[in-house]
Order: sequence, then C-alpha cells, then structure tokens
Amino acid sequence: MNVNYMVSLMAVIVLFLLAYLGVKVPGGQVLFGVIIPYVAIITFIVGVIYRVIDWGRSPVPFRIPSTCGQQKSLPWIKQATLDNPSTTAGVIVRMILEILLFRSLFRNTKCELKEGDKLSYEWEKWLWLGALAFHYAFATVLIRHLRLFLEPVPVYLQFLEKIDGFLQVGLPGVLLSGVVLLAAVTYLLLRRIFIPQVRYISLASDFFPLFLIFGVAFTGILMRYFSKVDVVGAKEIAMGLATFHPSLPEGVGALFYVHLFFVSVLLAYFPFSKLMHMAGIFFSPTRNLPGNSRAVRHINPWNYPVEVHTYEEYEDEFREKMVEVGLPVEKEIVAESAESTESNGESEEKE
Ligand code: HEM
Repeated sequence: MNVNYMVSLMAVIVLFLLAYLGVKVPGGQVLFGVIIPYVAIITFIVGVIYRVIDWGRSPVPFRIPSTCGQQKSLPWIKQATLDNPSTTAGVIVRMILEILLFRSLFRNTKCELKEGDKLSYEWEKWLWLGALAFHYAFATVLIRHLRLFLEPVPVYLQFLEKIDGFLQVGLPGVLLSGVVLLAAVTYLLLRRIFIPQVRYISLASDFFPLFLIFGVAFTGILMRYFSKVDVVGAKEIAMGLATFHPSLPEGVGALFYVHLFFVSVLLAYFPFSKLMHMAGIFFSPTRNLPGNSRAVRHINPWNYPVEVHTYEEYEDEFREKMVEVGLPVEKEIVAESAESTESNGESEEKE
C-alpha cells in the first residue's frame, strides 16, 4: 500500500490549520501576511538561481542524439529534422514544441496486458491533455492575478479577464481558467491515487505539490465564489507586499491568509522539488543540443592529457602528517631525507 498520498494530504491539512488558526492569534497577520510571504519569495529567487547555476556548471561534453529520430547522416538517408535536428534553428523549433505543446508527452504510450496475455500499447492522450490544461490554466490564473498588484489595472489584463470570463455566468462571473486549474489538478491527483501502476511509483514529493496546488486553487475559488473575500482589502495587502510598504487592513478573512500561505509554501518549496522542471527543461541536453556529431568533432574536455595526482605525489605531500597519525607510508621519512641529502650531494658534485 502506498501511504505517500495520505502523508501529503495530512501535510496540506496541517498547513491549512496552521494558517487558518494562526492568523487569529496576535501577530498572526504579520507572520502570515508579511514575514512568511517575503521569506518565501527570497527562498524562491535564491533557490532557483542556485539550482540553475549548479546545472550550468555541469559539463556537457557530448551531444546526446535523441534515439527516437534518425540523425543527419548520408544524403539518401532521411533525417528526422524535428526529433533530431542538426542545426540551432532546428533545436529552437524542437524546444518550442516541447515547451508550448509538451510534444514528448503527446507521443507517450502506455503498455498494458489485454485479454489475458496480449500486450498492447495505447496512446497516453489523457495525461497530455490534463498536463496541458493544468499548465495553461495555471499560467492564465497567475497572469490574471497581476491585477491585484497593479494600479491602474492594465488594459491587457482587463482583456484577458474578459476572455476568461466569456461564459458570463454567475456573479462574480465565472473565470474559466480557475475552474480548469482545479479540475486538471484534481485529475492529475486522482490519476496518481487510483491507477495502481502510477500509484506504485509515486512518492510524497509527487503528491505533495499536487495537493498544495489543489489547496491554492480550492481556497481561491472558495474566496471568489463562496465566502466572497473583501477584494479591496486583499488588493491593499498585495500592493503593500509588492511596494515594500506592507499594510494589513482588517476584515480580509482567514481564507485569504490560507491562500497566501499555501502560495508561500509552494514558492519556498519550488527550488527543492520536481517543480524545477520549469527551468530544467531548458537545460536538458537531449533537447537543447543539435545532433551533429557525425559532422562536427566534439572533444571531451577531460580527455588526455589529464592532470593527475599520483599516489607518490600524494604521499610526498602528506608523508609527515601520515607518519604522525600512524599511517603506513611507502617511503620512510628518514630514508627520504637521507636520499634527498644524497641526491643533493650528487647534484652538488655534478655542479
Ligand atoms: C501560485 C499562485 C496562485 C494561484 C495558482 C492562485 C489561484 C487562484 C484561483 C484559482 C483563484 C480563483 C479565482 C480565479 O480564477 O482567479 C484565486 C483567487 C484569488 N486569489 Fe489567488 N492564486 C495565487 C496567488 C495569489 C496571491 C499571491 C494572492 C495575493 C497576494 C492571491 C489572492 C487571491 C484573491 C484575493 C482571490 C479572489 C479574487 C476574486 O475574488 O476575484 N492569489 N487564486
């Protein structure tokens, strides 16, 4: 039995209670409305920069041609230009298709035993669709939230909100991206919980971000359509944070602070989690390098001559310390000093 999803769910419930109850004690609003959001954003920025620099430092000596497409070869062998581009322009097209359309996920297949012992492969379209809906809805919700941080609200944001609310149902009007986000994250969660093969390989680090994002979207939707948050107060808090003049008006319900706390936890957790695939996709050598190793000679930076440190040199460097702590040495100090006197003598003689 996989208990990881129960543990992750419990963790998110504890986070909910922490903020919901914590904001009601004296000083709670400052903690959840100012201190934690600032600490989270700093952790996010520093953490992401650190991880990216760390990746940037790892050497990538060779091209890793993608095995699912024919590399550029002899003129009569047809090259798979999208899967295995040999030029930078081709790589850019491959990256764009990957980042905007999740092309590799689109080509995913799942393998199942059917009718007893028949192995069949099926196109994994639902995961691709769910992932696409999730990411686009998330991005739209995020962009729309800028209206809380900007005064006056730019025209393009008003336009986006108009398109997002084109259904024109309810008051306040239903914004499609928020609902799609909640539906998509629910699908991605249920898929992990109910499909046995997926559940088997899922860790707490797979479930936790999904439950957390579910929490963010759920509290957001509760605030907008059900508990009707004081949007003016919420905007004052958001603007205060953005302009470094924090302000905490009364009357913005505890749910807002839970929403903000969930977002803060998500931000602080981001650099240490699988969510870093957002930056990692740009660093993937199977995607970002042209497969041109038949045309261009790539030289491994650690090919010979390699700088080495032999055991002899090592012992010369540490002999005294080794002898001091009782480690065996190949050349004793006395012998060495006698040798060196001899050799000095020799060289003096030669001179
Ligand atoms: C990862 C970041 C965030 C996500 C995914 C998110 C998600 C959502 C969603 C899905 C809603 C429901 C309504 C809608 O679709 O817009 C919502 C509403 C809301 N969110 Fe967020 N949110 C995020 C960050 C924030 C932040 C940082 C703040 C404030 C500082 C905030 C304040 C609010 C408020 C005040 C509402 C209610 C808006 C209304 O009544 O129109 N959210 N959020």
